[in-house]
Amino acid sequence: MQRTLRILKFILLPSTWVHFVRLFDSAIHNQLLARRLITFEGDATIDSSASFRNGARITLGNRVFVNFMCSIWAGPASRIKIGADTILGPYVHINSTNHSFARRDVPILAQGYVQEDIEIGSNVWIGAHSVVLAGSRIGDGAVIGANSVVRGVIPAYSIAVGSPARVVKERPA
Ligand SMILES: CC(C)(COP(=O)(O)OP(=O)(O)OC[C@H]1O[C@@H](n2cnc3c(N)ncnc32)[C@H](O)[C@@H]1OP(=O)(O)O)[C@@H](O)C(=O)NCCC(=O)NCCS
Repeated sequence: MQRTLRILKFILLPSTWVHFVRLFDSAIHNQLLARRLITFEGDATIDSSASFRNGARITLGNRVFVNFMCSIWAGPASRIKIGADTILGPYVHINSTNHSFARRDVPILAQGYVQEDIEIGSNVWIGAHSVVLAGSRIGDGAVIGANSVVRGVIPAYSIAVGSPARVVKERPA
């Protein structure tokens, strides 16, 4: 009886419906609308949990693999390009915007953004939970260790790990 009452309460609570509307709205924006605007240079595999912002400024190469819970967020004035055959591990976050914070007297929230394009080459593997910051360039064939924070340039065929990601070795020739 108590269980039935709990379920009834759950169904009748306005917050339950607000939650579902929000979920639906997020799915529409992150999954459907943004995805529709992405430039696909061939076929990409995208997990249904992945999220995208400003899809019109995102380009995905052929056979790019976007894993579970990845987020690729381009800015209103910055682009993200990912080359063919690149793999993103689960929970990778790629974001081409930073909040501006130059002034102390204005909330960061109201200061706008600093935006820089991100370019990731082809045949790159980015380990799980890594973050790629605005302005980064990752060369072809590079490997980024799990949980790394990438900022700046990572040369082609290098293996970079950590926060900030530093090159620890090169892939064998
Ligand atoms: C980077 C990686 C691929 C290993 O490459 P590797 O060539 O075998 O490198 P090694 O294991 O020899 O490590 C080289 C150095 O980097 C360090 N290192 C490796 N991975 C690291 C990581 N993710 N973060 C911090 N340091 C790391 C090692 O400890 C080692 O340091 P040392 O020389 O001081 O001992 C692996 O560690 C990794 O991070 N894999 C990602 C796994 C993943 O996210 N899978 C998702 C599936 S898509």
